[in-house]
Amino acid sequence: MEPGIRHSHFNKKLFGDNFAWGVSTAAFQVEGAHDAHGKGESIWDVFTGKKDKILDGHHAQIACDFYNQYENDIDLIKQLNIPNFRFSISWTRILPNGTGATNQEGIAYYNRVIDYCLQKGIEPWVTLYHWDLPHELELKGGWTNRDIVDWFTAYVKICAEHFGDRVKYWMIMNEPAVFTGAGYFLGIHAPGRTGLKSFLPAIHHTVLSIAAGANALRAILPSAQIGTTFSCSFIEPYSGKARDINAAKRVDAIINRLFIEPVLGLGYPIDDAPILKNIKKYFLPGDEEQLSFDFDFIGIQNYTREIVKYSVFTPYISASLVKAENRKVPLTQMKWEVYPPAIYQMIKKFNAYPGIKKLLITENGAAFPDVVADGKINDVLRIEYLETHLAQVLKAKSDGYKADGYFVWTLTDNFEWAEGYHPRFGLIYVDFDTQQRIVKSSGHWYARFLKG
Ligand code: NOJ
Repeated sequence: MEPGIRHSHFNKKLFGDNFAWGVSTAAFQVEGAHDAHGKGESIWDVFTGKKDKILDGHHAQIACDFYNQYENDIDLIKQLNIPNFRFSISWTRILPNGTGATNQEGIAYYNRVIDYCLQKGIEPWVTLYHWDLPHELELKGGWTNRDIVDWFTAYVKICAEHFGDRVKYWMIMNEPAVFTGAGYFLGIHAPGRTGLKSFLPAIHHTVLSIAAGANALRAILPSAQIGTTFSCSFIEPYSGKARDINAAKRVDAIINRLFIEPVLGLGYPIDDAPILKNIKKYFLPGDEEQLSFDFDFIGIQNYTREIVKYSVFTPYISASLVKAENRKVPLTQMKWEVYPPAIYQMIKKFNAYPGIKKLLITENGAAFPDVVADGKINDVLRIEYLETHLAQVLKAKSDGYKADGYFVWTLTDNFEWAEGYHPRFGLIYVDFDTQQRIVKSSGHWYARFLKG
């Protein structure tokens, strides 16, 4: 038995035969090969080249070298008994300038990845957009330019036409609230834009693109399973005072409701998020009907909870998050609170929406400062994190809520955006100097759990 493994009181069978177990990755975080075989530059290639944007100046030109090592990494997925592999396609490998001529070498690469998964009996789950927008399109305004709805749809069609004969499960976008919020409002992610004049149009064009992309996919692949994924955090007010409760409501509307509600046909949560009051400026006649799509499944991605306090210093939301560091709670390397009931609360919250057919946890996991000792990584904290979160997923199922799958974030340690390579989220350790992989105790734990 691996060191540090405790017998868990639950097993895979309790989740049912149709529950989808998997692991998730994203192209920019693992592939590297930033300019190989005709790939164009994405906003993240450019952003990582700018001074002081990424902790310690890390970049992702090589990352985990998944581009070259995909066979080895898919072999590891197989070795860990993981039946479903979620990964993303990089738009700039397919269309180096975002629009125009297709790069056949990019198509050939994803064909190889998909074929190798299938050859190993692993089901590929494809995310079409995990934040690496073509830089050429950013020069034309990126998500703030309404033309992006057409650019994105054209890209989706190419992917559907080339990969749809083998890929059954598709996700249109990954965490729109994070890439618009961090990239177009706070400026801490690529492309580094700030302010409402970027944020509001980016939100609206993203929602239009989610629906348009899904419609295009459905037209080409009528029997595909089409989903999309959303970030979510359990939000609680700092106190029972009305102003903290109202502040929590405003933050919840932005963090948890902003994208799922228009996608489900419920419109933007403008009443509870006054920051959105000018979003209608970006509407054209008929847009209300163009925001929703009848998805086959919805993916939610949860890591933590946030405590919200009223604040006079934040004009748009009059709220602030009380840092977990100051709350004397267990933390991950991201300084996020470890709070397993959050995932239960999020399953419950999303179950309350009408129109969600299947609900999957498409990401959950934790970064901890792993140490290699005698060639092994005994990451007991990660095992405990995963076990306690899975126990909450099971509790939600037993309470009658929909929960149809669970994907660990992530396979290997990788490039964690503005935090560079510091946070280690993987089930597999990566030595970034040698590209050597070592399966952590958590990887062995997941493999045993999945074996049943
Ligand atoms: C959400 C994102 O989809 C993923 O790219 C990121 O690495 C993880 N959460 C951890 O922060």
